[in-house]
Amino acid sequence: MGSLKGKDILHGNQFSRQEIDAIIRNAAFFEKELKTKDSLTLLRGKILATLFFEPSTRTRLSFETAMQRLGGGVVSMASAESSSAAKGESVADTARTVSQYADVIVIRHPRMGSAQEAADAAPVPVINAGDGAGQHPTQALLDIYTIRKELGSLKDLTVAMVGDLKNGRTVHALVELLSLFEAQLYFVSPDALRMPEEITSHLRQKGIEIVETEDLMKAASESDLLYMTRIQKERFPELSEYERVKGSYVINGEFLNRLKKKMTILHPLPRVDEISPEVDTYPGAAYFRQVRNGVYVRMVLLAMVLGKR
Ligand code: NCD
Repeated sequence: MGSLKGKDILHGNQFSRQEIDAIIRNAAFFEKELKTKDSLTLLRGKILATLFFEPSTRTRLSFETAMQRLGGGVVSMASAESSSAAKGESVADTARTVSQYADVIVIRHPRMGSAQEAADAAPVPVINAGDGAGQHPTQALLDIYTIRKELGSLKDLTVAMVGDLKNGRTVHALVELLSLFEAQLYFVSPDALRMPEEITSHLRQKGIEIVETEDLMKAASESDLLYMTRIQKERFPELSEYERVKGSYVINGEFLNRLKKKMTILHPLPRVDEISPEVDTYPGAAYFRQVRNGVYVRMVLLAMVLGKR
């Protein structure tokens, strides 16, 4: 193993089945370890730098938690305004600079392709924590770990992805991973927010069955899993366009009653109004368990790229 040693993590399509199996296995191991220990020593002396040019709660804090649980240290840049980006420094120069301090870099940036630029410039591993409407591979891996835990298997699944499929980077990465397990996919969105054509055609080429629809109830009744997403307000050039599609799909108690079957519900969070708080106590509502899984999966990824797993 150790195939991720020294590598960047940039895109959902870079993983093999074997690598995903290894990530799941190791995440389960770390999850078990943390039941009896507060922290481990695997990455003692190593330093993670988190560079966040866009808002984040879960991704940044879970990476920092993961590093500290492994005994490593963290240096952090929590906003673009507080860094030299505000003075006009390029992503490449920032990444090259930070690699003089840290052994691994996690970056989130509003521009698609920015994580690749950072990776090209930095001699240390760079992990993409979201590049605009592009990719968010570590979220997709923690989603896969969560699905495996909640449903017991990744085989023969029918998954409905709901909401802003055009701008949602989590679904862009997750479909790549699900395609390795031959999932059937429902893409549920308003017409203006459909999954980008290059992604659907590439999935179809791989033999993945896709149904695109605006009908959430129909897709949900035929799926094992609902993956809800937020309408990505910050990606709309005009607020009026956002106003037209916001609130398109809402899961609430009434929806679950009408559905009449048990359903697992995931959401990368943050939510706005697409899942009512009354759903939180529903047994299939897994989105806060999903948050916790992020720590274990990110522990694995940090350990792997640093050659310790
Ligand atoms: C997502 C993101 O930033 O892409 N959040 C996350 O990382 N959990 C989803 C979103 O912002 O809607």
